[in-house]
Amino acid sequence: MSVQIAPSILSADFAALGEAVAAAERGGADLIHVDVMDGHFVPNLTIGPAVVRSLKRVATVPLDVHLMITDPDRYIEAFQDAGAAMISVHVEVLPHLHRTVHAIKALGVKAGVALNPSTPVASLEQIAADVDFVLVMSVNPGFGGQTFITRSESKVREVRAALDRAGNAAAPVEIDGGIDARTAPRVVAAGARILVAGQAIFGTADPERATRDLKARAADALAAASLAR
Ligand code: DX5
Ligand code: ZN
Repeated sequence: MSVQIAPSILSADFAALGEAVAAAERGGADLIHVDVMDGHFVPNLTIGPAVVRSLKRVATVPLDVHLMITDPDRYIEAFQDAGAAMISVHVEVLPHLHRTVHAIKALGVKAGVALNPSTPVASLEQIAADVDFVLVMSVNPGFGGQTFITRSESKVREVRAALDRAGNAAAPVEIDGGIDARTAPRVVAAGARILVAGQAIFGTADPERATRDLKARAADALAAASLAR
């Protein structure tokens, strides 16, 4: 499994999202990460299906839609219709997570479950075999540019082990929050294979170059981890 870079447009200029996506893609972005926030589950508001639909028109890589909303079931179809290729939902808001994951998959979209920093890995146990990926939050969701929570590194290892135990070796671990040139090698060594990065890419003067550099760092870390094995 290679490492994929998923630039988060949360830190981009919302008046120039098309250019942000194009720059990230020139730098080798594998996915575009779209943060959807409702002002309830997280203390911030961002974008809805209309913006995803517009992004879909310009993006050449798949759209990875991260739903930080209290009622994802209501909106899954709208995001699929708008062009999401991957949708992640938070376990903290879903009493019927199994149903939601399968509803996402039935729409032909890759289904991911997301865990907040304080949510135990054990909450994955009964769903690990069903998911297409797991998103480990390495900051408390809501804002870009926060500091990486160090404990997330071991959490990635635990999630990787839980997926493997469930016979789901094909499902990658995605990590989101505070990923930069310093933290990327550590999370790759821990087993993360999709790296979301907002500030480290769109907070720079040259997002294309920042994407390319982060991808190179991640690839180096993966090679080193394979050698160490
Ligand atoms: C945080 C979002 C992240 C955010 C990451 O709630 O889920 O995707 O954009 O931003 P950085 O990389 O700046 O921590
Ligand atoms: Zn996100």
